Amino acid sequence: MTFSQRHFLGIEGLSREELLFLLKTAESFREISEREVKKVPTLRGKTIINLFYESSTRTRSSFEIAAKRLSADTINISASTSSVNKGETLLDTARSLCAMRPAAIVIRHPASGAAHLLAQLDKCPVINAGDGTHEHPTQALLDVMTIREHIGEVEGKTIAIVGDILHSRVARSNVLALTTLGANVRLVGPPTLLPPEFRLWGVEVHTDLRSGLSGVDVIMMLRLQRERQARNFFPSLDEYARRFCLTTQALAEAKPEVIILHPGPMNRGIEIDSRVADGPYSVILEQVTNGVAVRMAVLYLLTTRERIAAQDRPDRPDRPDRPDRPDRPDRPDRLNYPDRVAEPSPAVVQEISPVLPKRAVGQ
Ligand code: NCD
Repeated sequence: MTFSQRHFLGIEGLSREELLFLLKTAESFREISEREVKKVPTLRGKTIINLFYESSTRTRSSFEIAAKRLSADTINISASTSSVNKGETLLDTARSLCAMRPAAIVIRHPASGAAHLLAQLDKCPVINAGDGTHEHPTQALLDVMTIREHIGEVEGKTIAIVGDILHSRVARSNVLALTTLGANVRLVGPPTLLPPEFRLWGVEVHTDLRSGLSGVDVIMMLRLQRERQARNFFPSLDEYARRFCLTTQALAEAKPEVIILHPGPMNRGIEIDSRVADGPYSVILEQVTNGVAVRMAVLYLLTTRERIAAQDRPDRPDRPDRPDRPDRPDRPDRLNYPDRVAEPSPAVVQEISPVLPKRAVGQ
């Protein structure tokens, strides 16, 4: 199996095989975080830029920890401390950052499509860490990884995604990932936050919490995105909580061995009751742990492409990272990517073997 994506912008367009390959690679990285010395040399000498235009605790620190555990250098830029404050456009910021030759840029932005815009520059791999209400692909991967750890393959299982579907990039990425892997997905929420056209995704739509949770294997709660509510989608928070807060009583509708996910940050008492969030069915902190492994896998797969391709280059095997390739004298500063990433060569496999068992890289 090869991973052919140059950027990681969304779950949309990924095949079942690509998703399973990403998950398998992430599973192989998980073990590093259990070691006493949580570091491998895989990305030594590479720089990862975290460009965050929105507040974030989990995703930002997770990407940073993932990069550091792979020995990359990391820098964090947030909108409040960058030249955005001086009127610079996103593309000009990105052009400048790319000129410093990072191995990848991780971007979170309040505008849907921001990561795609950056990817069009095509100067270095771009990883979407959440764009507006569009996609949050690494969150979906860590969610699916956590679900599979508990219930096995998701195919044929029923998963309810509950809450503010309309504004949720987590919901979009998860619907795409879960349906591609053959799960039955139910979307549950008030009609104003769950327009009927969501049925076009091939999912069930429920506007009643109890019926939506009936017999499900997994419940994924969503945060009520108060910062994205341009108008009043429900009468009051109290009203929303009365109908859609996941309480122990509502939980009783699901299968007895149900697991509960939440991407965080949680609004306790609004979408989820503390007894449920901290109770025995919750896997919320496991999601956070798995997030590091998923981001290590994505960083690894995207930033080692050059090196993997370079192993096979007879022209300059000594300068694998050198951009001025003799085969493209017309595009000296363009980073050249192969059309598809080749199977890692034996040398690469050997180098990363403490990290990835052969089955993960060889399938
Ligand atoms: C999610 C996000 O930012 O989209 N959180 C996260 O990445 N941990 C969900 C949310 O903020 O509601």
